[in-house]
Amino acid sequence: MSNSLLLQFESEMTKILKDLKDIHHELLSSMMYSLEAGGKRIRPLLLLNTALALRGENNESDFVFACAIEMIHTYSLIHDDLPAMDDDDLRRNLPTNHIKYGEGIAILAGDGLLNTAMELLISQISNESTKKAALTIAKASGVSGMVSGQVYDVKTVKTKEQLLKMHQLKTAKLIESAIIAGAYLAKADEQLINKLKVFGEKLGIAFQISDDLLDVEGDESLIGKPVNSDEKNNKSTYISFYGLNHTKLLLQDTVKQALDSIDGLGLVYLETLAKFMLERKH
Ligand code: IPE
Ligand code: IPE
Ligand code: MG
Ligand code: MG
Ligand code: MG
Repeated sequence: MSNSLLLQFESEMTKILKDLKDIHHELLSSMMYSLEAGGKRIRPLLLLNTALALRGENNESDFVFACAIEMIHTYSLIHDDLPAMDDDDLRRNLPTNHIKYGEGIAILAGDGLLNTAMELLISQISNESTKKAALTIAKASGVSGMVSGQVYDVKTVKTKEQLLKMHQLKTAKLIESAIIAGAYLAKADEQLINKLKVFGEKLGIAFQISDDLLDVEGDESLIGKPVNSDEKNNKSTYISFYGLNHTKLLLQDTVKQALDSIDGLGLVYLETLAKFMLERKH
């Protein structure tokens, strides 16, 4: 995977963050704490690599979009870790935001990251493609995507159909939106967009299945968050519904479906990331 694009993303994000002014110092510190703790940056890299593959280069605007999606993802992690949600105390190898700053500031840092992301997205709208890209990310993170998925998670799912729905909404939508936004920014045609939607959904589901597996079999120092969090919270996961072995088969099958959906398109980064789901340790 292209390490130089990751470095470029980090430096572009630092520049964008420098422009944030007149913010309460503790709020800013709390937002930066979680953003700068690192993370794999999978969503921004999906957006950047998709635009790069389809357009041949990245432009300034791609990086603003990439930064916005990472801010949305980071906000979701801060809120996901709160006592009222998963009640976890470790994230990206650091104490979670509410452990470090208290619940009130952590909630507000999440709100602040989400709203700043929306400001960044709106600032980039200049034509039909940028509008579609911005709307795709906004919708995927909202009530027709991640927020509703987290509601399924909080309310506990009862059937396999609901389990799939939860994975689609809480995780796959945002991952899919990173790819689709990148494709819109590169002015991809609808036929390609439709193929990428299938890929993005399958990749996103595979991502959450592998996250559920890491919660059971992972190494805390590699995943940077507690293991057995799902069991502690009596969460419905692929493992609780299907058992470990069957879950691994379902993961393989989902990755295969993802790869089939973009077969022959030469989208090497996307293929590599899909295969990474089968072996990832973090
Ligand atoms: C964790 O996402 C939350 C899920 C949707 C499973 P990541 O595994 O991408 O977390 P970071 O960004 O690398 O910390
Ligand atoms: C989180 O799912 C999905 C989000 C939208 C944040 P998890 O609760 O399994 O994510 P981790 O394991 O805490 O990163
Ligand atoms: Mg959760
Ligand atoms: Mg969690
Ligand atoms: Mg998890």
